[in-house]
Amino acid sequence: MSKKILVTGGTGFIGSHTTVELQNAGYEVVIVDNLSNSKADVVDGIEKITGIRPAFEEVDCCDLPALEGVFKKYPGIQGIIHFAASKAVGESVEKPLMYYENNIVSLINLLKLMPEYGVKGIIFSSSCTVYGQPDPENLPVTEEAPIKKAESPYGNTKQINEEIVQDFVHSGAPISAILLRYFNPIGSHPSGIIGEMPNGVPANLIPYLTQTAIGIRPCLKVFGDDYDTPDGSCIRDYIYVLDLAKAHVAAMARILEGKNADPVEIYNVGTGKGVSVLELINTFEKCTGVKLNYEIAPRREGDIEKVWGNVDKANKVLGWKAVHTLEESLSSAWNWQKKLRERGIM
Ligand code: UFG
Repeated sequence: MSKKILVTGGTGFIGSHTTVELQNAGYEVVIVDNLSNSKADVVDGIEKITGIRPAFEEVDCCDLPALEGVFKKYPGIQGIIHFAASKAVGESVEKPLMYYENNIVSLINLLKLMPEYGVKGIIFSSSCTVYGQPDPENLPVTEEAPIKKAESPYGNTKQINEEIVQDFVHSGAPISAILLRYFNPIGSHPSGIIGEMPNGVPANLIPYLTQTAIGIRPCLKVFGDDYDTPDGSCIRDYIYVLDLAKAHVAAMARILEGKNADPVEIYNVGTGKGVSVLELINTFEKCTGVKLNYEIAPRREGDIEKVWGNVDKANKVLGWKAVHTLEESLSSAWNWQKKLRERGIM
């Protein structure tokens, strides 16, 4: 019998791609999502790609009785991948209580239910944001690098949630956990059936870039060209979303097979390569043949100058590696943007 996994936030960007990869690997998936930042028809897309329709419950993880109802309705859930969270840095500064409540209560509710329903493990979506701006000697940044004070309530919820998981497991709770610290996930499924769907004006680089390329936005602003980097623009580690999705499958297998060495393990999930905003634009233009309208603008407040990951631990221990190139990731993002236009969505 296939193993049952609960994916919270499973209709979202990373959650939907991870559901596809879990189903391809033979897992049975139950999605819960409150649809605050995604649409229910993503479930149709997942079915179209994999031939299997995941179970879907429109439930808010902050609603404990409703969440418990899901564990009752689908007995035998063995693992949880917890994506459901609010994720806009700027919004979190304006609405801190909403961020603390959503992101923290939902995790606490899941952890409370795990022992009662015999769930073995949880994978938590953390972020390289916990490292802040690493000191130059710590780049590429490893999992051992010091945690810096968070720049935003959003970032703080990631740090607090990591601590909540650690404290709960160390209290003797009969569960295991893996904290995955993502770098910058980009791109879409090659089918063009699911992808990143930001609400309103995108805050992140890739959706803003592809919306500019297709003419929805007039011009992409490059936030700063006077940083201490080779071309002056900020550097990030951009990872293809399907590679990131596969890291979750590897992490889940490790927990369910009892191979984890520690009850809480932490892994960076990135490519190990830093790319500047200007390099990324150049690569986009080359691999799509589309000329992008962009201009240099002032720095964005709170931006990290440069960060990319040391991913040796995930490569060696999880046996996982990001295999897709930046060109493939950007081409898939562009393909998705064109599909949205064809479907009359954007
Ligand atoms: N950028 C631009 N113009 C834009 C948007 C972004 O030049 O219109 C630049 C930014 O200055 C930055 C890079 O593109 O240098 C990437 O910016 P994103 O907003 O796409 O991503 P961030 O690295 O700022 O933040 C992302 C997630 C956060 C998470 C963080 C670290 O959005 O949720 O990675 O994990 F906290």
